[in-house]
Order: sequence, then structure tokens, then C-alpha cells
Amino acid sequence: MFMVRVAEIREDWGSWPIDGAEEKETSTWVYFSNPVVAKSFAKAFSSKVEKAVWEVDLSYQQEWTAKAVGTKWWLAPASDREAPAGRFRLEMSPGLVFGTGEHETTCGCLEMMELVDFAGKRVFDLGTGTGILSEAAQKLGATLAIGCDLEWDAAVMAQQRGVTAYQGPSFALPDAQFDVLLVNVPGYVHLDLAPEYGRLLQVGGTLILSGYYSWQAERIEEALPGFAKQSQILRGDGWVAAIFSHAASTASSD
Ligand SMILES: C[S@@+](CC[C@H](N)C(=O)[O-])C[C@H]1O[C@@H](n2cnc3c(N)ncnc32)[C@H](O)[C@@H]1O
Repeated sequence: MFMVRVAEIREDWGSWPIDGAEEKETSTWVYFSNPVVAKSFAKAFSSKVEKAVWEVDLSYQQEWTAKAVGTKWWLAPASDREAPAGRFRLEMSPGLVFGTGEHETTCGCLEMMELVDFAGKRVFDLGTGTGILSEAAQKLGATLAIGCDLEWDAAVMAQQRGVTAYQGPSFALPDAQFDVLLVNVPGYVHLDLAPEYGRLLQVGGTLILSGYYSWQAERIEEALPGFAKQSQILRGDGWVAAIFSHAASTASSD
């Protein structure tokens, strides 16, 4: 973990992909798991990168109990091996990588996935985290599921889960096209990545988005002119999960 001290108190870091921030008396300590991002951030704020220990108490994860999500899923800790009849078991991976199964945005995505036909489909899971959505896609019959994540730890954990994943951005796949695209990332990241969705998804394909709040939905949908919204749910504190169909190619020709 890396830390950059910024000599101001601030809550909004715009589109910087920070991992966390702590407000101190006269400065803010901003944390990054990615040293390259930390270096760019430090340069932008005329500061320097320091090594940091960010202590997080994960003992609560030992108390996890299995839970039903939607009509098809059973999210369970490693100790709980059996799923009720008719439900697919997805293991809750302990640790700091996003995708343990606890978060409303993951659950929203899983619920939306129930409405899509995955049989024989090729799936790309952008921002795979623990790989939980790729595994779910395979359980629903996808023949191929590939995940990517900017975080090294995430790609490793997804591979340990048994899904195909790489560390890096989606544009590392220059010519690929998929039938279904799964993207659970924060709202501002959707705005940045929107042109990628048209490029990665074949016309007629299905886009499942999650990770943003209802107040961000209009802007995100405006950034997706070639897509038509099919369905949407709200979970928890206004988290949106939605299905779109790719009606027209929005990929750039240059
Ligand atoms: C909210 S988590 C979702 C994890 C998992 N897919 C789930 O639904 O639980 C978002 C993940 O996307 C990754 N991420 C954020 N921006 C990304 C980008 N531009 N390209 C690839 N991965 C990204 C983060 O590192 C994080 O692991």
C-alpha cells in the first residue's frame, strides 16, 4: 500500500482511483494499492509517494453466514459447502479484494444476471475483483468468461477462484468482441469506460452495469447512446443494477 499526503482537507478526488483517504488536522492522507497511480497522483498534487500500512480489521469476515441472493444464488463462506436445491453456490472470498459477495452492487449484478440467457455465451467481466461474476456467468452456462482488473491482487484471486483473468485494462484486448459484458465499477469509471462498452460488445449483445447510484444513472445512460435499457433494479442505499442491449456499434474506426 502507498500513501500520498496532500496539504489540504478534501473529500472529492474526482476521477482519481484512490483506495481510501484519511482526513488529518491539516492534510489528507490518500492511499493507493497501485504505485503507478500513486506516483501520478503525487505529481499532480506536488507531493511524494510514501510506503504505508493501511490496517483493516477483517475479523468480521469470520462471522459470515450464507445468504440467498435473488432466486438463483447462494453466497456462502468456505465453511458452508452446501447450497439449497435450485441455487448455485458462490463462495465469499475473504480479504480486501472487492467481490466478497457482501456488497449491494455485486448482489444487484447477480440479480440482473438471472434475467439474461448465458447459455453458450462469451462473457467479459470488466473489473472482475474476486472473479465472482465470471464464476456466476459460467454457472449460468457461459462457455467463456474472461475477467480483467487493474489490481494485481484481484487478478490473482480470480484465477484462484478458477476463472480466467488478467491484470490490466480492458483495452489490452484490441480485437475482442463478447456477447455479454459485466461491469460493476463506480459511476465516474462508467463515464470513462463507456466508449469501451460499444467496442467490446457485439451488436445485439447484453451489457449489465452496476456500481453507481440512481442520481448518477442519467449521465451514465447519456454516455451510452448505442444502448437501450431493458431492466433496472435498485438495491440498498440507491445502488443501481441495470441491463442494456447493444443496439448499434459505437466503436471508433480510428
Ligand atoms: C466494485 S469492484 C467489482 C468487483 C466484482 N466484479 C463484483 O461485482 O463484486 C470494481 C473492480 O473494478 C476494478 N477496476 C476499476 N476500474 C477499472 C478499470 N478501468 N479497468 C479494470 N478494472 C477496474 C477495481 O480494481 C475493482 O476490483
